[in-house]
Amino acid sequence: MSSAEFDESLKPLVEAIKKGKKVTFFNGAGVSTSAGIPDFRSPKTGLYSNLAKLDLPYAEAVFDLDYFRKSPKAFYTLTHELLPGKFAPTKFHYLVRLFQDKKLLHRVYTQNIDTLERMAGVEDKYIIEAHGSFAKNHCIDCSEEMSSETLLQHMLNKEKNNGIPTCEKCNGYVKPDIVFFGEGLPPKFFDTWDEDADEVEVAIVAGTSLTVYPFASLPSEVGKNALRVLINKEKVGDFKSGKRRSDIVILSDCDSIAERLSELLGWKEELDAFVES
Ligand code: OAD
Repeated sequence: MSSAEFDESLKPLVEAIKKGKKVTFFNGAGVSTSAGIPDFRSPKTGLYSNLAKLDLPYAEAVFDLDYFRKSPKAFYTLTHELLPGKFAPTKFHYLVRLFQDKKLLHRVYTQNIDTLERMAGVEDKYIIEAHGSFAKNHCIDCSEEMSSETLLQHMLNKEKNNGIPTCEKCNGYVKPDIVFFGEGLPPKFFDTWDEDADEVEVAIVAGTSLTVYPFASLPSEVGKNALRVLINKEKVGDFKSGKRRSDIVILSDCDSIAERLSELLGWKEELDAFVES
């Protein structure tokens, strides 16, 4: 696609935003790859094709509760690499922030646990971390909470349990409240979506393979009058199989589109100022 073709595709989105329609984002790992965090399923670069060193029975076992109970080491090896604080928000995250500042943000549903939306300055009331975050941690046996500071101390103390955090009450393994396969999503996700589903005016789905449910079904649940936009390197979900007539599909890199969209909206200088800050 040439840049003129991108602009033509983006036109209905730009018009909707200029009319004051609010945007709901549905983010996945692809919005953070330019920050240096690998996504999960991209061939060669994705986490799941680079886990050989963890000696897993299958790649997704690293986020599987039953496997964690038996062998938490793989998860904690990976966690060392992915700990929040090591990475900075991308242009795309700052674009979301700009929507907030312009009072044009309705919500950000994110599958990411990297907290980069927060770091970009998006307020808590807008963010739904569908797969949880590292903000809280609990024992998987007795549910006792452990602060993030204590968890980090445990992780850094290789002398004790090989750096695997264990409960100070019952000695069970402690796990951050990120959602593993075999666990339910946070109630806030369902409660907020119940209220939001019919209110979405513009849905921007970005950097996700739309393979993990229930998150993957959200874009297909927005009302027929909503404008849906996919910004992704490949066609996914029902943008591929059940595309609506008004859908916009932009097969590109999230940051490039964040930049172009900011230009078309007249927000480029503000975006640059955030990125340089
Ligand atoms: P995936 O790795 O499954 O998909 C990332 C998508 O983003 C792919 O379609 C890529 O082509 C695309 N992509 C990568 N970099 C991009 C870029 N710079 N610009 C545009 N597109 C890009 O990641 P998710 O869909 O987020 O769950 O994965 C969903 C869940 O699966 C995760 O939350 C995680 C994982 O198992 C848990 O940990 C519970």
